[in-house]
Amino acid sequence: MGKVKVGVIGCGSIAKNRHFPEYESHQETEIFAVCDIVPDRANAAAQRYGAQAYTDYIELLKNEEIEAISVCTPNYLHARITVAALEAGKHVLCEKPMATSLVEAEKMNEAAAKSGKILMIGHNQRFVRSHQKAKQLIESGEVGKVYSFRTAFGHSGPETWSVDGLESWFLKRIRQSLVQWAI
Ligand SMILES: NC(=O)c1ccc[n+]([C@@H]2O[C@H](COP(=O)([O-])OP(=O)(O)OC[C@H]3O[C@@H](n4cnc5c(N)ncnc54)[C@H](O)[C@@H]3O)[C@@H](O)[C@H]2O)c1
Repeated sequence: MGKVKVGVIGCGSIAKNRHFPEYESHQETEIFAVCDIVPDRANAAAQRYGAQAYTDYIELLKNEEIEAISVCTPNYLHARITVAALEAGKHVLCEKPMATSLVEAEKMNEAAAKSGKILMIGHNQRFVRSHQKAKQLIESGEVGKVYSFRTAFGHSGPETWSVDGLESWFLKRIRQSLVQWAI
């Protein structure tokens, strides 16, 4: 069996730091196409990984050779790109959060069920060994009945890791949550 041909949509921080390197290092995947609305970002990734560059994800999804898609765009685009990719017959790994509303998330699940393709959300913290251990300790009853717990996870903020820095969509409330997709 040949390598799974992957298309990565959104060539920002998470694509550069996780999706590209991990697809590149995996023996069963190939970065076949990349897409970003900023042409320089798409072209730079395409050159580095020997992939085809797109600036319009609709065009990328027309490529029948692509079997799976990573959705690495701002949150408000997750649902529409995921549904379009599933309808185009691709498996999808969509970054978290899954969507910006329950309705959108349900549309994504419906599209996955209808297409018969795999939809996975990048809840990578679930694969962290310490979290899995905590789950196991709770489920087995080893730590007794849990009445409450406190946890914290921090980072230095989107301004330090988004490809757009202080101009990041993360800091624009309207872009974070507005459902621009006509459902
Ligand atoms: N799993 C994790 O731990 C983790 C960590 C960081 C970010 N994320 C998620 O990954 C997603 C992306 O975050 P990021 O940090 O890479 O953001 P980013 O701002 O660095 O990159 C987003 C990229 O998407 C591109 N883009 C915007 N609209 C597009 C479109 N219509 N078509 C194609 N490309 C488009 C932008 O030009 C930019 O290059 C977010 O949903 C975020 O929540 C997940």
